Amino acid sequence: MEFPAAPARRGLVPWLGLLLAGPASVPTLLASNTTVTENEDAVVMTCYTDEIFITWLFNATSLQLKERMKLSRNRRTLTINPVRREDAGNYQCKVSNPVSSTESAPVELYVKY
Ligand SMILES: *[C@@H]1O[C@H](CO)[C@@H](O)[C@H](O)[C@H]1NC(C)=O
Ligand SMILES: *[C@@H]1O[C@H](CO)[C@@H](O)[C@H](O)[C@H]1NC(C)=O
Repeated sequence: MEFPAAPARRGLVPWLGLLLAGPASVPTLLASNTTVTENEDAVVMTCYTDEIFITWLFNATSLQLKERMKLSRNRRTLTINPVRREDAGNYQCKVSNPVSSTESAPVELYVKY
């Protein structure tokens, strides 16, 4: 890929930054525990990534946050406290940058009741 000669005008510098950013790398999602008991246990899931824009998926669709769920301010940590049977399924975090977006491998949560 060929970059145009860097223009002297300041307004274009951020665009050069975008061009130099690579595609987002695949985030890693880890859970504190994947086999938990309904109404007893909490689960903490952490998305390891350098990207700033993070969203969460549950069973491959956008996660709807319930009252029992809390996202950290930087959106990297999801806490479910307590877990309920309807929380069982596959969780992923998805990260994006201006070049691309990519998802973690799914983490399957089992809820005993
Ligand atoms: C995960 O939760 C289960 C069910 O409550 C518990 O028995 C088990 O000890 C926990 N495992 C870990 C690693 O915390
Ligand atoms: C999510 O997926 C799990 C595992 O396939 C399934 O058991 C569960 O019913 C699904 N939950 C919802 C709300 O779709």
